[in-house]
Amino acid sequence: MTLQENKVRLIDLGKNVTAEWLEKQIDFCIQKLEKNMERYGTAFPSASATNGIYRIKPNDDWTNGFWTGMLWLAYEWTGNDRFLKRALENIQSFQQRLDDHFVLDHHDIGFLYSLSAGAGYRITGDEACKKELLQAADVLTARFQEQGNFIQAWGKCGDPKEYRLIIDSLINLPLLFEAAKISGDASYAETAEKHYRTLLDTVIRENATTFHTYYFDPTNGKPTHGATHQGNSDDSIWARGQSWAVLGIPLNEVSMGATVAPEIYSSVVDVFIENLPSDLVPYWDFDFNDALPSEKDSSALAIAACGLLEASSLDAYPEAASIAAGMIYQLGELYTTKDLPENEGLLLHGVYAHGEGKGIDEPNLWGDYFYFEALMRLAKPEWQRYW
Ligand code: GLY
Repeated sequence: MTLQENKVRLIDLGKNVTAEWLEKQIDFCIQKLEKNMERYGTAFPSASATNGIYRIKPNDDWTNGFWTGMLWLAYEWTGNDRFLKRALENIQSFQQRLDDHFVLDHHDIGFLYSLSAGAGYRITGDEACKKELLQAADVLTARFQEQGNFIQAWGKCGDPKEYRLIIDSLINLPLLFEAAKISGDASYAETAEKHYRTLLDTVIRENATTFHTYYFDPTNGKPTHGATHQGNSDDSIWARGQSWAVLGIPLNEVSMGATVAPEIYSSVVDVFIENLPSDLVPYWDFDFNDALPSEKDSSALAIAACGLLEASSLDAYPEAASIAAGMIYQLGELYTTKDLPENEGLLLHGVYAHGEGKGIDEPNLWGDYFYFEALMRLAKPEWQRYW
């Protein structure tokens, strides 16, 4: 299929997305969450499921915010205080995690705190959430490297073996823009913008495909080379990496007046759409296709749909909202667990880290979260995102 054919099919599918259809999908998400909430208590589900069941864990991974974010979505949709109570309990756990600096030596602070304290502040106006968000923003900015102008993704700061940024970091930056807004301290936004510009100049290849990660020389800050971590090869296009760009660029552009990356964005989206196979749900890496199949990563499609819905507010891609609706319709009709009551995920057929054998062909928390977020965006265009 060509880019144009895929777009036409998505737009056609999107026409099936009615208010009733969305309500039915959201009701399904709420019912699943209610059941899961009973089992997890105040603990957290694991990053990905095993045979459709999430392990119960403490608050110790980069993914815990997705669970709390779903509780906030459920609260906003239903007004049911049970979701509010549990989300606020989660936020205390996130505060404890900050106070103990527990498994926070990485850049995924935005994934964790935008969806917990950030959402909490937006929804309740609670000053404790604001304080928590700012404390989290300080943890993230502490990873900024002057040599190279970027926030180091993983490992000990300055370690030459880990001196790199990764495309996923696009979703951690909105926390800094939010911190600047609510504190009046512009330095948070300046750090975010520096990282953003460095990222665009490195991980996005000239043909608008993406590297997963990009290394720098710690002695002089010069960008050295792209490399993968979760993709099929250094030179391949990891589907979720491309979708992080489809979402992350408009999320950040909104805060910068949509001035930094207007041209490259539509090409980044084109790459994603033209690589969709016949059922329009991507293989986990674009090295694979219907002639050379592998597992699908449904989460990448849910992320891309949220990105296109964000982009529609900037007019950054033609018919973005209609295309996003088609993506969500396809997931809703073909990839949810609606006929599998024992499965705890919302979306089937995700991939976490193929090379490491993690979460292959399983639900994962971010796929579930972004599916629910996309439904919320479609059902309530006035809804304020948590990022
Ligand atoms: N941010 C890690 C992942 O997408 O798997």
